[in-house]
Amino acid sequence: MKKSTMRASNRILEPNSVSGPGAWFVVCAAIAMMSFACRSTEERDPEVLRERAEAQIERGRKAYVASCAECHGPALAGTHRAPALVGEGSLPLEPPAGSGRRNPFLSAADVADYVVEYMPPNGDLLESDAEYWAILAYMMHFGGYESDVPLGPGNASEALLTRR
Ligand code: HEC
Repeated sequence: MKKSTMRASNRILEPNSVSGPGAWFVVCAAIAMMSFACRSTEERDPEVLRERAEAQIERGRKAYVASCAECHGPALAGTHRAPALVGEGSLPLEPPAGSGRRNPFLSAADVADYVVEYMPPNGDLLESDAEYWAILAYMMHFGGYESDVPLGPGNASEALLTRR
């Protein structure tokens, strides 16, 4: 009884302390729900996905140049230091003779497993998983793989390597 009287008097003294934050909470919750709804429809929008796929390839190009090109070459064609990553005979299904690779390369997921573990060979890790996926997307794109969605753990095993 005493408490409720106090609360009532507080409300009179500071009207904003109750209605202010409460109202803001409702507004914020509504905005959060709306933006969540927008985001989830946006995520299925083919145009948005295609733009993201293109942005991922561009990000991958930059990361490749920074972390891989010195050995695998600017056009991914290989150098005396490392094998080609695109073109005829590249990324063979079974590891080449003398390679430290153990897993067969059937899809982008297999290449990603290898790259995350062994590349770059000096043991440096790239900044993030997103960076690895971007490089993979760039490599796949360069190798002729076409996709309208970004590459990631959810679809990489369906991204099959094309061999010539
Ligand atoms: C310092 C040189 C060097 C750098 C930098 C480097 N690699 Fe390599 N990479 C190699 C060598 C050497 C091999 C062959 C290793 C083996 O077969 O055991 C290799 C193998 C590979 C293979 C497997 C090729 C095959 O046919 O088995 C892939 C894929 C690959 N690198 C991707 C990358 C990516 C992506 C990056 C950048 C994140 C990168 N590498 C950075 C030297 C390098």
